[in-house]
Amino acid sequence: MSESHGNMEKKWLDSVEATTERFPERKDKFRTSSDLEVERLYYPTNDSEYEEKLGYPGEYPYTRGIQPTMYRSRFWTMRQYAGFGSAKETNKRFRYLLEQGQTGLSVAFDLPTQIGYDSDDVMSEGEVGKVGVAIDSLKDMEQLLDGIPLDKVSTSMTINAPASVLLCMYIAVGEKQGVPLEKLTGTIQNDILKEYIARGTYIFPPKPSMRLITNIFEYCQQNVPKFNTISISGYHIREAGSTAVQEAAFTIANGMAYVDAAIESGLDVDTFAPRLAFFFNAHNNFFEEVAKFRAARRVWAKIMKERYQAKNPKSWKLRFHTQTGGSTLTAQQPDNNVVRVTLQALAAVMGGTQSLHTNSRDEALSLPTEESARIALRTQQIIANESGVADTVDPLGGSYYVEELTDQVEAGIEEYLKQIEEIGGAVQAVEEGFMQREIHHEAYETQKAIEKQEEIIVGLNKYQLDEEVNPDLLKVDEQLEKSQIESVLKLREERDQEVVNKSLEAIRSAAQDENTNLIPFILDAVKSYATVGEICNVLREEFGEYTG
Ligand code: 3HC
Repeated sequence: MSESHGNMEKKWLDSVEATTERFPERKDKFRTSSDLEVERLYYPTNDSEYEEKLGYPGEYPYTRGIQPTMYRSRFWTMRQYAGFGSAKETNKRFRYLLEQGQTGLSVAFDLPTQIGYDSDDVMSEGEVGKVGVAIDSLKDMEQLLDGIPLDKVSTSMTINAPASVLLCMYIAVGEKQGVPLEKLTGTIQNDILKEYIARGTYIFPPKPSMRLITNIFEYCQQNVPKFNTISISGYHIREAGSTAVQEAAFTIANGMAYVDAAIESGLDVDTFAPRLAFFFNAHNNFFEEVAKFRAARRVWAKIMKERYQAKNPKSWKLRFHTQTGGSTLTAQQPDNNVVRVTLQALAAVMGGTQSLHTNSRDEALSLPTEESARIALRTQQIIANESGVADTVDPLGGSYYVEELTDQVEAGIEEYLKQIEEIGGAVQAVEEGFMQREIHHEAYETQKAIEKQEEIIVGLNKYQLDEEVNPDLLKVDEQLEKSQIESVLKLREERDQEVVNKSLEAIRSAAQDENTNLIPFILDAVKSYATVGEICNVLREEFGEYTG
């Protein structure tokens, strides 16, 4: 047994002891149905090369997971992405999902909010409350979070270009609830690079966008230290048609660009890196997805420790949320999607995700009904409580196939990182369209394979039905747009316009000095009930708009 073996194993056992003080394991003994004890971790005791490469869970390079005991202590956060119509309607869905046992919130905003337009803006016509909840002002945010204790629930917000505005609204609601800022927990997606690459809800050009992002890093580190300031996303890159390797590689490259930008803005890496988070997809090839998550953790850990010389182990840990692959859902035979989502969710869990959203069976047709959203949540709860996969750490670790696949995915990621480095980094690669071209090529190849039946999608290009029975679908109230517009007009009449004007002008002058952190000024404007559109329009005038 090598010296390093004894040390590494002992280090892990010590961290198990330390962590189970705050997070005791769920059971004294974990057993199978045949009363066989399930060990916390399975590993060889005489293979130091294996140990060096994989490490132990909760130990660098985190191949086997970022926590010493993982789900034996705490299941992943069950965090269903939800939002439609008005703040009131979405608040009702949030409360329902929390009553049904979900353990974190995840806000879907409508497109006008995501692109910084008020509901009464001509650009918002036909989109208000459609793909997410309409949030125009702090008043809507108060209704969205009504009755939800922000000192107990963590909230993710899928918001990018106007992330600073919605973050400030969340902070303002927290203050109104009397929650100390240092107790607020949650995440803003705040990842503009993937918007340029794949998702499209950008507003400003890269430079001012990166400034807003690093302003958030700095502000939160000083004032809201438990808030995750960015969710560096691979989900949408994969949804746009990338491979698993490209998803992980382009996401990590984007992550490096954010680290570079934050360091260039004068921040020390260990002050912001512990609050960087990630967001990945879980697609259909089960073992490749597990390998992708394990490889991504190891690559990121090495980059943060070796390239950026981060000293705090929390800076090395890749913590991520997973959403099952929306683009794998079929409109045909929608109940089949429950099986797809189950397998994809299982891959995310076997890959060590920290938080998980499971898609609903009807989402290829519309936003989910309450029943479909409940089944999606129950899928997670069954995996957690009935399958046994959460009872031992990294159960696929040591599998010849999974370890080989993890190595190969890791090599593929590193190859792409080298190419992107040669181009000049992720921002340059995005501006040159490198990632977009790689993704579009893969998307085209995949579509061809499906059309040629080389890739089988059950119910779509094989095992079809002669006629499809359409399920009940969620209907968003058509009247919503009208009532949302009325409420924002009413808000403008009721508020103190002079205070609003002053706060908007203060944002403008702050925007003109790139060494000024904009967040305090946006927070003041939000508290004066300035709207998302009004704040973003001032920034549009100062920063210009990205035209792609
Ligand atoms: N042992 C010890 N500690 C543990 C533990 C264990 N086993 N498990 C959890 N903990 C601790 C954690 O360390 C953490 O404490 P800390 O904050 O003091 O470190 C606490 O318990 C909470 O655990 P996590 O941070 O792991 O879990 P969260 O759920 O709070 O955070 C996250 C997970 C990935 C870090 C966070 O960023 C997150 O929640 N992300 C969600 C993002 C999201 O939902 N995105 C949806 C996007 S939808 C979209 O874009 C798609 C659309 O466009 C179609």
